[in-house]
Amino acid sequence: MDRPRPTTLWHHGLMRPIVIAANWKMHTTPMEAGELAATIARRTRVPGVTRVICPPFVCLAAVRDAVAGEDVAVGAQNVHHELAGAYTGEVSAPMLVGLASWVIVGHSERRRDFGETDVLIGRKLRRAVEHGLRPILCIGEQLAEREAGRAVEVVAGQLRGALAEHDPAELDRAGLVVAYEPVWAIGTGRNARGVDAAEMAEAIRSVAAELGWPEAGASLPVLYGGSVTSANIDEFLTEPAIDGALVGGASLKPDEMAGIVARAGLRVEAATGTLGS
Ligand code: 13P
Repeated sequence: MDRPRPTTLWHHGLMRPIVIAANWKMHTTPMEAGELAATIARRTRVPGVTRVICPPFVCLAAVRDAVAGEDVAVGAQNVHHELAGAYTGEVSAPMLVGLASWVIVGHSERRRDFGETDVLIGRKLRRAVEHGLRPILCIGEQLAEREAGRAVEVVAGQLRGALAEHDPAELDRAGLVVAYEPVWAIGTGRNARGVDAAEMAEAIRSVAAELGWPEAGASLPVLYGGSVTSANIDEFLTEPAIDGALVGGASLKPDEMAGIVARAGLRVEAATGTLGS
């Protein structure tokens, strides 16, 4: 099915959208989530930045209602690989339709705690795409893998594994976003260096190109995730290969989100030549 490319920036001349996505993980009650989302939406109105809030499943409706009328997308943090069935406690893609328009798949916390494999994550991607949910595919190496010089190999393997059964053109139309999240940087206060994240983003696009991605991978947005704050976001936004961030802990703080999205807005202005004009 052909859908319009779900980005807002092509007309501004940026090759890819700039995305700031909030992953709230297992935080907030529905009432807290609604209030927090409304505050963040109000404080991050920056032209040209795609904003996404991913609360827990039970908070999706509250966040959707709280940001109604704002240009803020709502995302789920996971989706089951089957449509329905005897899967106690799980949530399928058709259940998310109307609640969310994006979905995170393959987060390292799910790989680690729930044994999610690349093959399973590939099936989740399929469900997301079938239901018009824009996927954020998370990939990233462990510390020991980076120290052994295997980071690119590991991340490339995760990408190939998840995309193996997919048509790259279809994923491109669905607006797939990759989030490079080195596991050792998540929740540790120790972020990757911008240059290393940029190198990985280019490696990710090379693998996409190999797999037959349209425009040789150039249209694939790659975010960085891992201890992003308003104080270090510039390290990533100054790298043209990186298209924004998937933010965990800091995304629960309105001041932090306001700072991060404001910096992303400067990147958009710089890229579109509107800075200082
Ligand atoms: P932190 O920003 O808390 O390190 O989490 C990153 C993350 O896992 C986002 O998905």
